[in-house]
Amino acid sequence: MATLRLGDTAPDFTQDSSIGTISFHEWLGDSWAILFSHPADYTPVCTTELGATAKLASEFKKRNIKPIALSVDPVDSHKGWISDINETQNTEVNFPIIADADRKVSELYDLIHPNASTTATVRSVFIIDPKKKIRLTLTYPASTGRNFNEILRVIDSLQLTEYHSVATPANWQDGDDVVIVPSITDPEVLKQKFPKGYKAVKPYLRLTPQPNK
Ligand code: BEZ
Repeated sequence: MATLRLGDTAPDFTQDSSIGTISFHEWLGDSWAILFSHPADYTPVCTTELGATAKLASEFKKRNIKPIALSVDPVDSHKGWISDINETQNTEVNFPIIADADRKVSELYDLIHPNASTTATVRSVFIIDPKKKIRLTLTYPASTGRNFNEILRVIDSLQLTEYHSVATPANWQDGDDVVIVPSITDPEVLKQKFPKGYKAVKPYLRLTPQPNK
């Protein structure tokens, strides 16, 4: 399987999960998705990651995002581990965990990196938009838990820049100033698109208040 790249269609699949069989594209419907893999059930870092994701449920809902996790462990293992996550992380896991025991999805999404581990999936994340296009990929090693607030931040940026002619600068957080895309230079268009005005630090670096605030 070739590496999945930004703009590619997220591969569809039908696979067992902690909430029953899922046909991915159908399950996704008109939502965004965060598909994320973890090395194995009943492991400490993964337990905190799934707990952190569960605690962000209302933030995901606000943004029309469905999280879905994956490891190569079977459904019974997922179900037992979810009880542990709920108990130890003081939350309720209400998103599915794909049971990829036959590695069908892992192969489609290239989630086993043999030089890291021949059996466990890496910590990858795919942000997928409602048109089923891949909008972000990242891969962390097993030893490093991911920052799920950063994933929310990227989704805020993707959802903002989809509808406004802006991009978000380094360390941007929702509500901060944004940059105007370089392709917009016509003064009339600038006035119409950015009625709050903008500051040209350099001709190519123009800051403006976040348009949808
Ligand atoms: C963990 O999730 O804690 C973990 C999994 C595989 C290797 C190291 C840590």
